[in-house]
Amino acid sequence: MYFLYSLGLFIHIVGITITSGGSIGGYLLERQIWKHIPESPLKSKSLTCLLSKYSMIIHTGTLLMIISGIMMLAALGWAAVGQQWFVIKMVFVIGLFLSGFFIAGTNSMRLNKLIIRQMNAEEVSIELNKVKRNMILFRISEALMVLTIYLLAIFRNSI
Ligand code: HEM
Repeated sequence: MYFLYSLGLFIHIVGITITSGGSIGGYLLERQIWKHIPESPLKSKSLTCLLSKYSMIIHTGTLLMIISGIMMLAALGWAAVGQQWFVIKMVFVIGLFLSGFFIAGTNSMRLNKLIIRQMNAEEVSIELNKVKRNMILFRISEALMVLTIYLLAIFRNSI
């Protein structure tokens, strides 16, 4: 069981690293996209194609975290499942998943469409601002939820 736990922890840390790397990379890419939208929408359009690569990286990391989390739970005899820190952690994990799917996913699709409309000389600045605001809100909530999960993992024995 000790081996299963250690292997799970190793994969968990690899998963966290991959997900964080993908998320930070995606954020930096997004900044470049916004920077180029006013004067060069074509450049922004080609950069948006890369966004899906980052979401693939994030999905891979997430899958590793889920599999390894289950491995650790099994190694600990499923004792953590009923504990308060784990229940709160799962609420935030689900929150991350849902906000990633509904807010980040839908807004990056909207961004893609708006850039195409802008390339066709349509006026879309109000809609673009809305998408930008949603993406900023997503980034802030994502950072807060991940930091809370880290704090829960570290202070789990004090809860
Ligand atoms: C955003 C997703 C997640 C993050 C950022 C995260 C982060 C962490 C961190 C930092 C630790 C502490 C590692 C240590 O003890 O050194 C940990 C432990 C653990 N995580 Fe996760 N985790 C995530 C998702 C999950 C999921 C989905 C599960 C379950 C299916 C899970 C189950 C566990 C378990 C069982 C432990 C070990 C607790 C113990 O040793 O008592 N985690 N996680």
